[in-house]
Amino acid sequence: MEEVLRHYYASPRNPIGADGDFYTAPDLDPIFGRLLAKQFEQMAEGLESFTLVELGAGKGLLARDILSHRRFPYMILERSPGMRRRQEELLKEFDVTWVDELPRGITGCIFSNEFFDVLPVHRVVRRDGALKEIYLTEDFQEVEGELQEAIDAPLAEGRIADINLEARKWIRRIAESLDRGYHLAIDYGYLREEFYAQPRGTLMCYWQHQAVENPYVRIGEQDITAHVNFSDLMEEGAAAGLETLRFSSQMDYLTGFGILEEMEKLATSGDALSMQRLLKMKKLILPGSMGERFKVLVQWKK
Ligand SMILES: C[S@@+](CC[C@H](N)C(=O)[O-])C[C@H]1O[C@@H](n2cnc3c(N)ncnc32)[C@H](O)[C@@H]1O
Repeated sequence: MEEVLRHYYASPRNPIGADGDFYTAPDLDPIFGRLLAKQFEQMAEGLESFTLVELGAGKGLLARDILSHRRFPYMILERSPGMRRRQEELLKEFDVTWVDELPRGITGCIFSNEFFDVLPVHRVVRRDGALKEIYLTEDFQEVEGELQEAIDAPLAEGRIADINLEARKWIRRIAESLDRGYHLAIDYGYLREEFYAQPRGTLMCYWQHQAVENPYVRIGEQDITAHVNFSDLMEEGAAAGLETLRFSSQMDYLTGFGILEEMEKLATSGDALSMQRLLKMKKLILPGSMGERFKVLVQWKK
């Protein structure tokens, strides 16, 4: 899965946006980045300096929208050379540094939108009381075998779960990288109970804006994602010195930062462009769209 995802994001075809396979929030409207910039301004108030580090920046839209609001020192950690080229092109006028590893000694905020959901997962199933990992034969047949790494999952008999051990490693890296400051992650996911209540796990693929359940077709040509288990991020964070300050739906989060007031302004202006923007902004907060599926986690290292 790691190799397939690496290939997918390295392909010359842009995966994100109208010509790609899926939209992300920054694609819908710049308001998403502008409201996040407000959050960063609040965070920066109590700190002597404030650097932003974005993980997996896609087309660079979020960086552009944040930096257009306020010019924070800004680093991007991006693995795909293709995505990085797009980011460099879009962000030419801003002072952005690209890094290959999370640097030590950061005071500020390490953040991401839809980063944790694209990390490779371990697919496990409970059989006769024990957890088994699902592997693939060369001709793409699933076979069950012993776990590669220790996994402790409260999974009912016969149920499948997609366990993101990489996410836990990233949380530890983030905690080590921060001298003082915040971690903010926006992604779709659940808390533990709901996460393990999904009978067939949460692995899903996207191709040309259609959800595809079979991950063994169009290999390397379609996006593969899995919901984030936010309880894991909170627990691993707590063990690594990150205290959870906030966990909420994207709808509640953006409402708290004034998205409804922005929408009201557009509604009263009434022109065609404002109406188009309004429709896209609604997707950010409507429960049936991104509003409830997406969650915002804010952690703090004193
Ligand atoms: C789903 S896209 C989200 C892009 C962007 N944050 C947005 O909201 O539009 C995931 C991004 O993470 C990057 N990525 C995936 N795995 C990564 C890794 N291990 N290290 C750094 N970047 C990674 C991908 O290349 C891509 O830019």
